[in-house]
Amino acid sequence: MSGGVSGLERDAVASVPNPIVVLDSADDPRATDYRSLTDAALRRRQDIAHGMYMAESSQVVRRAVDAGHRPRSFFMEHRHLAGLADVVARWPQAPVYLGEQQVLQDITGFHLHRGALAAMHRPAELRLDEVLDGIDADQKDARLRVGILEDLTDHTNVGAVFRSAAALGVDAVLLSPACADPLYRRAIRVSMGAVFQMPWTRVHPWPDGLASLQAAGFVVAGLSLGEGSVPLDDLVAQDHSRLALALGNEGDGLREETERRLDARVTIPMMRGVDSLNVAAASAVAFYSTR
Ligand SMILES: C[S@@+](CC[C@H](N)C(=O)[O-])C[C@H]1O[C@@H](n2cnc3c(N)ncnc32)[C@H](O)[C@@H]1O
Repeated sequence: MSGGVSGLERDAVASVPNPIVVLDSADDPRATDYRSLTDAALRRRQDIAHGMYMAESSQVVRRAVDAGHRPRSFFMEHRHLAGLADVVARWPQAPVYLGEQQVLQDITGFHLHRGALAAMHRPAELRLDEVLDGIDADQKDARLRVGILEDLTDHTNVGAVFRSAAALGVDAVLLSPACADPLYRRAIRVSMGAVFQMPWTRVHPWPDGLASLQAAGFVVAGLSLGEGSVPLDDLVAQDHSRLALALGNEGDGLREETERRLDARVTIPMMRGVDSLNVAAASAVAFYSTR
């Protein structure tokens, strides 16, 4: 242990059964999972290829473990271990990497002001029928609500939609294959961990796979600004028991071939010449109105 570690921090180390690895240098090869976290494109490729994702902040690490996800390892300054010791000890095989702030920052590429990181095993992606069977089984009344995200590119938007979906009673979220990853660390953080609570999966093939949703009795409505869309209030008045709401890419909106498969196209009327809402704001309006 390094000289800068207090008695309390030493007690925290002694309180967990996990292997403790003190990182004295940013070149330590054992810290590979935590390198270059600011390079979003690289991390997306690597994390998915290695079947992992990065949980950032002590609160998110706790929520990920509470959701039953399995850590590969934990990574933090000594002073954060005491607050997470109970979480860490639940996975005694997972090593805990500890280091001084500067060493950890040199590895990750940013200042870890939110406490801990954990490299997590990515849970197996559910099939669409598993998601639908799951929400059917959990159903508390006859109504089911599903959000659909097509090709969103911004992880902040994906995280914000999941947060709204969880808060506003949506039962599951479905994604097009190209949609940004809900388990990218920024999406997780913005969702406040809702990506761990909400059943979600990708629909293959896209958009033909949406037919399975329709076969399961869902009306699939697209949030769409184009000509011929009806006001959202009209859809609300129809009061469908099984409703899926599709939201489109931040720049291009829903693809034409997706729009052709929709049962309805609805719009949130805009005022003062504003042409559209941010997609996450649109999702919150639509989820709340149709809850
Ligand atoms: C920023 S908008 C995309 C704007 C794009 N230029 C278009 O024409 O669709 C992103 C997504 O948010 C949803 N959205 C935003 N404002 C909306 C509104 N007023 N009515 C319905 N959907 C809206 C749609 O699903 C849209 O695909």
